[in-house]
Amino acid sequence: MATSTTPEKIIIDTDPGIDDAMAIAFALLNPDIELLGLTSAFGNVTIDVATRNALALVEMAEMECPVARGAGAPLVQEPHPVADFVHGAEGFGTVEAMMPQREEDPRPAHEFICDQVNAAPGDVVLCPVGPLTNLALALRHDPGIAKKVKAVHVMGASLKEGGNATEFAEANIWQDPHAAEIVLAADWDVRLIGLDVTHRVTCHTPDFESLAEAAPILGGFLNEAVQFYFDFHEKVDGFHGCYMHDPTAVISIIRPDLFSFDEAPVGVIVEGERAGETVLGHGSSGRPAKWASKVDVAAVKDVFLSTIRSGF
Ligand code: RIB
Ligand code: CA
Repeated sequence: MATSTTPEKIIIDTDPGIDDAMAIAFALLNPDIELLGLTSAFGNVTIDVATRNALALVEMAEMECPVARGAGAPLVQEPHPVADFVHGAEGFGTVEAMMPQREEDPRPAHEFICDQVNAAPGDVVLCPVGPLTNLALALRHDPGIAKKVKAVHVMGASLKEGGNATEFAEANIWQDPHAAEIVLAADWDVRLIGLDVTHRVTCHTPDFESLAEAAPILGGFLNEAVQFYFDFHEKVDGFHGCYMHDPTAVISIIRPDLFSFDEAPVGVIVEGERAGETVLGHGSSGRPAKWASKVDVAAVKDVFLSTIRSGF
């Protein structure tokens, strides 16, 4: 059951990516979300592959949803290598590259974000599920958007859980810590949906088999893509399944009641071996962020699975 009657206007900034594909499929199918657009980010894959994959997902879902290309590299540091060992060479495990017919939006991602926010002040929720470069560029391009955005639900950070990209850092923050610092310092309502909760939300073989059965196109695609992700988690995390990072962040927008949020300044370490680490109480701006500390795992899974099962 949704908490709101008017669908939430959302932009997902994404580096698809297997769990990104889950988040996008969820947002395209869920009636409580009006997906204003996807903006692509480098990260799990290159910016070319991310943009192509975002277009391919929209096309597969037979939806109208603009896709705007984002930055191809971090603000300051050199890009890290793509995460092909996590998401596969083309981003969706062993699924072959899809060649969408759809065209990109002509605007760069940061301009697309600013235009959408300015067109609906107070209504738009930004949901970055990749590096935060595009959001930092949008703030630079038009600092006034900070006051007009409804909220920013970031899949990123780890306050008490340790890292996944390194011992210290969560992957999305680690990919562009300077951008994360800018986003955390801006005058907007930031919610961090980090490893503290996404490491609690896991899915396994029967979950995705049920999706393939109920929704052969979208669920079948996710079930195929996720096998590679399962293998990665088995090797690295010791369980045959996967964390549901990016869909959990999207679900936090329409079902915040399923999360507990703590509030504290959050700093980002931008250099050295701890680069990308997020630190409680050390915000450079002193601005508090809300970070998710607890999650109703069964309910989040149910919202995700029932939404994808309603697809085709
Ligand atoms: O740390 C998890 C995040 O890193 C997810 O967004 C995943 O897609 C990867 O980018
Ligand atoms: Ca991602």
